[in-house]
Amino acid sequence: MRFIIFLFFFLCFSCETKNNKVVSTISKSGMVSSAHPLASEVGIDVLKKGGNVFDAAIAVHFALSVVYPSAGNLGGGGFAVYRLNNGEVGTLDFREKAPKLSFRNMYLKEENGKLIVDDNKSKLGHLASGVPGSVDGMVTLHERFGSLGWPTLLDPAIKLAKNGFNITKKQSASLNKVKSSFQKVNDKPISFINESKWKENDILIQDDLGNTLSRIKTDKRNGFYSGITAELILKEMIDGGGIITKDDLENYSSIWREPVIGYYKNHKIISMGPPSSGGIALNQLLKGAEMLEVSNYNHNSSDYVHLLSEIESRVYADRATYLGDSDFYNVPQKKLISSDYLSERFGTINHLKTPSNQIKEGDIDLIESEETTHFSIVDKFGNAISVTTTINGAYGSKVVVDGAGFLLNNEMDDFSVKPGHPNMFGLVGGEANSIEPNKRMLSSMSPTIIEKDNNLFMVLGTPGGSTIITSVFQTILNVIDFNMGMQEAVDSKKFHHQWLPDAIIIEKNTLSEENISLLKDKGHTFIERNSIGRMDCILIKDNKTLEGGADKRGDNVALGY
Ligand code: GLY
Repeated sequence: MRFIIFLFFFLCFSCETKNNKVVSTISKSGMVSSAHPLASEVGIDVLKKGGNVFDAAIAVHFALSVVYPSAGNLGGGGFAVYRLNNGEVGTLDFREKAPKLSFRNMYLKEENGKLIVDDNKSKLGHLASGVPGSVDGMVTLHERFGSLGWPTLLDPAIKLAKNGFNITKKQSASLNKVKSSFQKVNDKPISFINESKWKENDILIQDDLGNTLSRIKTDKRNGFYSGITAELILKEMIDGGGIITKDDLENYSSIWREPVIGYYKNHKIISMGPPSSGGIALNQLLKGAEMLEVSNYNHNSSDYVHLLSEIESRVYADRATYLGDSDFYNVPQKKLISSDYLSERFGTINHLKTPSNQIKEGDIDLIESEETTHFSIVDKFGNAISVTTTINGAYGSKVVVDGAGFLLNNEMDDFSVKPGHPNMFGLVGGEANSIEPNKRMLSSMSPTIIEKDNNLFMVLGTPGGSTIITSVFQTILNVIDFNMGMQEAVDSKKFHHQWLPDAIIIEKNTLSEENISLLKDKGHTFIERNSIGRMDCILIKDNKTLEGGADKRGDNVALGY
């Protein structure tokens, strides 16, 4: 009996703590891993009430819109990849769309007879926003798969907005950092500005946001895309010089899409297709890893880092040229992930670095802040969902809709505003990702689910802009090739190559001096970063227990029961 009680506590509670908070968990029944402890709690409560992963995802999403305002959102968009317990898989695209008044050169201005990029307009202020998709996405998920009542899923977020919550240390620092940007584009008081500096544990109350959530609770889609909320968005657009119209809001709809499916060493990789580049790029990367047998090298050794960087730079060169919204541009998806094409593409990799100008895109007919957010959920029925959502940069366009309390995205910057001009993540692009009315901007978000022997094996994803794809890639290799547990794979240091800039972006202290010098001898240069990725993942072990991996680089927490 004593053994059973011990086992129960062992299975249900944390295996690791951070500032006395649980950051990872081993559990049997269900699990939620998200960017904020309060959002994970909301999700686990829904699962305990008998809700499924879709119910929990909706509640977590709305909770994040309150407790994680830098990326959680009502005014953004995202992607969900799901796997039901019967093996059925699918994805929902609720990515933002370009407003119908948008046009290709809208962020360019003439100077001395030349068109140059008017840099801030796609990043800061009203003109930077695409038509939000998140609320429609949540309603669409609920209509098809929800099992609990819609109001139950909104109540926790409304309570958190109205009663307030204690901000974390990281959040206080981040809110203080963006104060002047908030002041530039908001002429009315907003809840994110404090007269004095924000401190850890200060209470953030968001009354207007609570009211907006209440309207969504009552009227679902119409609580956002029409009625009072829509009027407030439209007023904000008129006052601030934005171009989102009533029609844009009324016509927004999410799209069920086929996932991109690939294989890596007998694992089935289920991920997001266009308008995300994530699924295609991830499949290319994994095929490269298999072809070059990277698992024969020591983890994060100089040879390993060299090979992965060479694979990554070729994949990102393809991304820049061939990927965009497939409803507007003919993405050569089949060819991009075909073995013949990739053998040729990766066949040029040798022991020396290939300069980026010799890589170019293949022959077929980036620096992101961490401010996107991902959560992974598994329920007691064996369903899984992997969701990544974003308002793009930290706090999006910084515009808070007056009277509605939520931030608008600056997702228009994810388009290629001018061929070859890098966006905020240093990513370049061209025709495939040019601005067109109603088109969805290319994303790197890579919510992913993996099967092993036809069973659910891993649910994963991360924020991190251009680094999303390579973080997901390396985490998969960490688990499959290097036998790491979920938390260890998440903790492991990451590096990233995106073709341009032509350098390995690397987390501090990833490599020894000796390895750095070996890589420099091969021709590599480095850009150091404090952190790459903020993963939220779940691994299903052989004995069917769930291991959560919640990234210590953020306030992330995995909870199980
Ligand atoms: N806004 C980041 C992405 O969608 O990739």
